[in-house]
Amino acid sequence: MAQEKKGKVVLAYSGGLDTSVAIPWLHDQGYDVVTLTMHVGQQADNLEEIKNKAYQVGAVKAYVVDLREAFIDTFVWPSLKANAMYQGTYPLNSALSRPMIAQALIWCAEKEGAVAVAHGCTGKGQDQVRIEVACNALNPDIKVIAPVRDWGFSREEEMDYAASHKVPVPTTRKSPYSLDDNLWGRSIECGILEDPWNKPPKDAYKLTAEVTDAPDEVEYVEVTFEAGIPTAIDGKKMPSIELIDFMNKIAGRAGYGRVDMIEDRLVGFKSREVYECPGALALIQAHRKLETLTLAKDTLKAKKELEVKFAELAYEGYWFSPLMEAIQAFNEATQKNVNGTVRMYFYKGNCVIDGAKSETSVYSKALATYSTGDIFDQSASVGFIKIWGMPIKTWRQTHKEKNINPIDSLMVQKGKDATK
Ligand code: ARG
Repeated sequence: MAQEKKGKVVLAYSGGLDTSVAIPWLHDQGYDVVTLTMHVGQQADNLEEIKNKAYQVGAVKAYVVDLREAFIDTFVWPSLKANAMYQGTYPLNSALSRPMIAQALIWCAEKEGAVAVAHGCTGKGQDQVRIEVACNALNPDIKVIAPVRDWGFSREEEMDYAASHKVPVPTTRKSPYSLDDNLWGRSIECGILEDPWNKPPKDAYKLTAEVTDAPDEVEYVEVTFEAGIPTAIDGKKMPSIELIDFMNKIAGRAGYGRVDMIEDRLVGFKSREVYECPGALALIQAHRKLETLTLAKDTLKAKKELEVKFAELAYEGYWFSPLMEAIQAFNEATQKNVNGTVRMYFYKGNCVIDGAKSETSVYSKALATYSTGDIFDQSASVGFIKIWGMPIKTWRQTHKEKNINPIDSLMVQKGKDATK
């Protein structure tokens, strides 16, 4: 039965089985399928091959775009400036790429005059939420289709559909995990990992060595930041893609950068997640260190609270929200002071920072020193303590009945005599 023509749809296309099957499936719904393959630093097959495959399976047009720099500048660096880690643990590698994908889908759809965009997410994760919330925010007139969520195929039915629509069925064994990766890290979920007691098997990891296999040598590195962004390694300027890649390698081979967590998903359940983010975690540690040297106490404190919020917004699909915009503006205002160099070393699963320096440092050795050259006015402490302690002293004077002797009673509790 000939379907009524609906116009063009732009499909986010990885070249994998699901999104390949989505091409004839969308065609059967009446769409002309334009594919968009985005390079965000994933360990992908040859991108030209993916493009050819798209045409072979029935795309009317296939785009391949290298979004690595845009991804870093617009999503990764702002996230590093925010030291963003969801639940204090996950540096958001997957979450950050979703608004980028949405932005690119909408850009391509507008360029192509498409009526819809499509993605390969299932109906269970939060990637669908992030992509669709972002697409709707950027252009509500463009419809979003999620074939994998809609088609209701079992694995077998999907394979049959693939075979009958000339979609090449993968010959290699399907990975036992659900994977996602980009420059900022790698996410590993499902399969054996669904039982939180199961140890992640060695084959789950690609970027990080087992601690027991890590070299016996310490590896040092110095990272230089300008306005909160890492720009040089060991004193040599390095383009951002290479810099992140370098950090992934040096930290990863020392066995640093694994995260194994129980994550609270936006979609309501807890999930066991494993990540490898050697470069991201090392850069966040270094960046945090430099902030302690260059930001004022109050600013640091306020920023810490906003960092939690930033991570939640990024995780929960609110990248394009006004609150995110405002937090980023706050961060930008702080980051112009975050310049300098952090020295760190990697050793058997550890990342140790053992030095930091900055021309915009607000650390004053003259104030901090206990040696000669001290400019701290110690006599001023007398008056400071009087006033600082006044409220608590006043309260205790008023509530004398509460002045139990804690030492005495503690000793009695333990059956000991305080007088001996
Ligand atoms: N739980 C992570 C997140 O929501 C990872 C998602 C990874 N996606 C995937 N398709 N495996 O950000």
